[in-house]
Amino acid sequence: MSRFEVTPVETFDVTLEVPGDKSMSHRAAMIAGLATGTSTITGFLPSEDCVNTLQAMKACGVRCEVLEELPGFGPVAMRIEGRSMHLTAPSGSIDCGNSGTGMRLLAGLFAGQDFITELFGDESLSSRPMGRIIQPLAAMGCRIEALGEKEGSAPLRISPAEIQPIRYELPMASAQVKSAVLLAGMTAAGTTEVIQPAVTRDHTERMLEAFGVKVVTEGLHVSLAGGQVPQARDFHVPGDISSAAFWIVAAAARPGARLVVKRVGLNPTRTAILDAIERMGATVIRRPVEDVQGEPFGDLEIHGAPLKGTDLLPEEIPNLIDEIPVLAVAAALAEGTTRIRNARELRVKETDRVATTVENLRAMGGQVEEFEDGMEITGGAPLRGAEMKSYGDHRIAMAFAVAGLFADGPSTILGTECVRTSYPGFDHHLAAVCRGAVAESDYQLPTRAPNA
Ligand code: S3P
Repeated sequence: MSRFEVTPVETFDVTLEVPGDKSMSHRAAMIAGLATGTSTITGFLPSEDCVNTLQAMKACGVRCEVLEELPGFGPVAMRIEGRSMHLTAPSGSIDCGNSGTGMRLLAGLFAGQDFITELFGDESLSSRPMGRIIQPLAAMGCRIEALGEKEGSAPLRISPAEIQPIRYELPMASAQVKSAVLLAGMTAAGTTEVIQPAVTRDHTERMLEAFGVKVVTEGLHVSLAGGQVPQARDFHVPGDISSAAFWIVAAAARPGARLVVKRVGLNPTRTAILDAIERMGATVIRRPVEDVQGEPFGDLEIHGAPLKGTDLLPEEIPNLIDEIPVLAVAAALAEGTTRIRNARELRVKETDRVATTVENLRAMGGQVEEFEDGMEITGGAPLRGAEMKSYGDHRIAMAFAVAGLFADGPSTILGTECVRTSYPGFDHHLAAVCRGAVAESDYQLPTRAPNA
């Protein structure tokens, strides 16, 4: 079992570039694979989750030529030859690994194909709720069965069917469910409309638009007409703000620390972490770069300060849902109380992240009260160095590695293999932060041409 050994760090001045955005990388592999023509995708996240999605597309006839890779992980640049919406039957079941995004979006994408697909995942993914996509997809005419032991759980079997358009009111603020319905709607005869209860990340809409598919967004309503075929294009995936969040919190909570994150995604449906950390007292300088492909990105500079607690707003929750474990760490380091409520969705992520965050905060001596829909943290007391588990959840492993930087002694995080699902090279960046600085030549993970 691999582990992180973390020793506390005084201050640091670090510039780094985090790997590509996970949500966008999944979608780039899928949409380029559905498109007419050949797309060059750069900045692809070579993590297990995204590589599984790419493998799924390849298993269905999509050709992919790797141009550059991160050794030991996977491709970061490639040419993808799309199949003009007509995939071919895979020779076996498709492994989605640990990824809810991979499984839910692929289920929508396969709904209108004329072959049978079976999607399976690891133990965590097999226990996550799939009823949330089965219900709308079935209402669209999709023949989708949940084969797992638990009701409505993976593996999923999808059989050929005629897909009908739908007007669907999402019962929860989920970009994954919205995206599954929209991708299924691509093959429907008519217009599919999804109504969200709150704004959720809009990468599917933006990427479809970038590939020439007309998507109409009016407030919380998103619709697209079926029968459109994406047109190939080159697409660069910016850095993942959810990965940058670990270093953003590490810098924000350390007065005197400075962090620069280069070329990171700044899509407004993902930047509530910056608003929260600013409210807590840190300085955040945003340097947006022109956005040429529909996804805003730029550089960020963070200056640390003594933090104070904050209340996360209900509408912020979907925008920073993946950052809550590390925000909880910031809260434990801040004076006063931080309230994180309306976040029941945390309980159905890779782990029950209310429970796993609370468990680890308490192991470090943090004061936290658990609620069905979140937690309240009273911060300011010193954190104790501790031995903690990742529970197989990448974001828990990384959040508590950051907490270890602020403890009164060394900490160990056990079971850190899971970090490969979203952040290849996290240990490299952790070491740079622990050294207090990182050389300009070192801030980008070392990629190379395949077989070089
Ligand atoms: C994602 C959406 C979010 C997020 C997940 C990635 C996506 O899930 O937690 O890590 O890429 O669409 P939900 O939309 O189910 O909340």
